[in-house]
Amino acid sequence: MNINERTLPENYPQFFYESIIERFPESFLVAHDERTGQIIGYVMFRVERNLESGLKFVKKGHLVSIAVLKEFQRQRTGEKLLIQGMKHAKNYGVDLYVLEVRISNTVAIALYKKLKFIIEKTIPEYYRDGEDAYYMVLRASDFKPAD
Ligand SMILES: CC(C)(COP(=O)(O)OP(=O)(O)OC[C@H]1O[C@@H](n2cnc3c(N)ncnc32)[C@H](O)[C@@H]1OP(=O)(O)O)[C@@H](O)C(=O)NCCC(=O)NCCS
Repeated sequence: MNINERTLPENYPQFFYESIIERFPESFLVAHDERTGQIIGYVMFRVERNLESGLKFVKKGHLVSIAVLKEFQRQRTGEKLLIQGMKHAKNYGVDLYVLEVRISNTVAIALYKKLKFIIEKTIPEYYRDGEDAYYMVLRASDFKPAD
């Protein structure tokens, strides 16, 4: 919660984190600084089952939030957290990974594109301050991490 509050304008109450940990513990991960043990980043996914066109159920691994403390950024921690979170979400049988990101958040968009997410659509005024979001998706079958 502390990292979230220091890095993102979207903050959540404690029960929100607790409910995600309870329901999807495998894909709620934190990164530690090896030297000090300090928690320096986190990623959390929620698994959702939606009815799509053609009356087919699609299981989505929805990236709820990811962040790394500013002083620890650009050291591949975000990428590792995301890859590990996605691998673990795969254990829940997801067909598709999805996420929303501010259209101005070029750093996060670059990370998602690096992992082959594509922008499916723009959601107008998704955020409380009126900013639009990109809705980005990646089919689970197209997620092929190196290790
Ligand atoms: C997005 C975030 C989690 C990335 O974490 P990070 O540990 O700094 O990222 P990494 O070092 O793992 O970088 C992985 C890739 O992301 C992209 N990236 C990361 N920082 C970047 C920057 N400053 N400029 C451009 N691209 C960047 C690059 O594609 C990079 O791959 P490369 O090093 O091969 O170029 C981090 O910037 C953050 O916490 N931002 C604030 C919170 C946030 O915006 N979360 C996303 C909400 S949707």
